[in-house]
Amino acid sequence: MIEGEIDGTDAAKREADAALRGAEEAELAARRESQGRGEELVSPLAEADERVIESALRPKRLTEFTGQVRVREQLSLILQSAVRRGRPPDHVLLAGPPGLGKTTIAMIVAAELGVPMRITSGPAIERSGDLAAVLSTLSEGEVIFIDEIHRLARPAEEMLYLAMEDFRVDVVIGKGPGATAIPLEIAPFTLVGATTRAGLLPAPLRDRFGFTAYLDFYQPAELEIIIRRSAGLLDVALTDEAALELSTRSRGTPRIANRLLRRVRDYAEVRADGVVTGDIARTALEIYEVDEHGLDRLDRGVLEALIRRFGGGPVGLSTLAVALGEEAETVEVVAEPFLVRCGLLARTPRGRVATAAGWTHLGLEPPASLGEPPALFD
Ligand SMILES: Nc1ncnc2c1ncn2[C@@H]1O[C@H](COP(=O)(O)OP(=O)(O)OP(=O)(O)O)[C@@H](O)[C@H]1O
Ligand SMILES: [Mg+2]
Repeated sequence: MIEGEIDGTDAAKREADAALRGAEEAELAARRESQGRGEELVSPLAEADERVIESALRPKRLTEFTGQVRVREQLSLILQSAVRRGRPPDHVLLAGPPGLGKTTIAMIVAAELGVPMRITSGPAIERSGDLAAVLSTLSEGEVIFIDEIHRLARPAEEMLYLAMEDFRVDVVIGKGPGATAIPLEIAPFTLVGATTRAGLLPAPLRDRFGFTAYLDFYQPAELEIIIRRSAGLLDVALTDEAALELSTRSRGTPRIANRLLRRVRDYAEVRADGVVTGDIARTALEIYEVDEHGLDRLDRGVLEALIRRFGGGPVGLSTLAVALGEEAETVEVVAEPFLVRCGLLARTPRGRVATAAGWTHLGLEPPASLGEPPALFD
């Protein structure tokens, strides 16, 4: 099923503004209903209401896009040469943790090519017939964006192989031994796939993308630029000191940076004169329990459980998740990447391990064994 369709031309600013206002009101209402959900503040996953606000904050063109310098340069070459040749570019795979700009880049690809884009996702395509229906109605050069492409069902995935390579799908009519496959030509298109779990993509699918972009966490300096841009769009007065403060607590993730910005703005409006200063930002984030490294309750919980209950590990992901009363996926996708990146936790073949820095972060003395270099062939 198609979830939505947008055209390649930029949406009128007025429309975006209206959508933004509507979404913000909805968000405020939702927040009034559920006070104190602070622990979700630094989750890189977006909530339903948030997606509307996000679309208003999305950079629309490559030149507006901050960070991911190498990806930006490579994409710019691919897209420019495609435009010059008048042919659709290679299929593009965008891989990386949530909230780093995969959907944003997919939309930019369509905008730079000046073509319409269809949006769907792996879980939305339940049967291969759904995919055939989408593919057979694409017009030449169109971009189809399949989000969470690692969650495509097997038959749809196989149909996609053929479509990506030969611009053809086999529509199967009938069942059992009497079934026949009717080949159907489809217009050349560009597939943009996004995944948070590139490792789960089967090799034949991965290999059919001509270009794979691995998105990486952003540097604080890049996040500062993003935060200032968003503040401008949201009409928030923000000092440089506040932008810096937010940038270092956003876990390298633009989605979190934008979310922290909205929360400190709320605080500034209610408790001060609306201007977000460094002090206001620090006080507000203390209330929301986001520490100076951007660690929140879940992160600290993972680290605490690992160290206090399992002696620092190694312990398997599912055991750790059960001890926390969380889903294994939440621990794996939300907390761990950041803890690993901060050097507080390590993933080893035998399980999760707290590093010496992890122990010190909780104010504990790391065991002597952690100080030694790892044994060879361990
Ligand atoms: N480079 C960037 N510059 C400015 N804003 C950005 C940038 N990257 C992402 N954002 C903002 O961060 C938010 C999340 O980005 P996006 O939705 O593209 O992430 P995603 O990688 O698709 O996440 P998910 O895996 O959850 O789908 C958007 O509001 C977008 O505006
Ligand atoms: Mg996305």
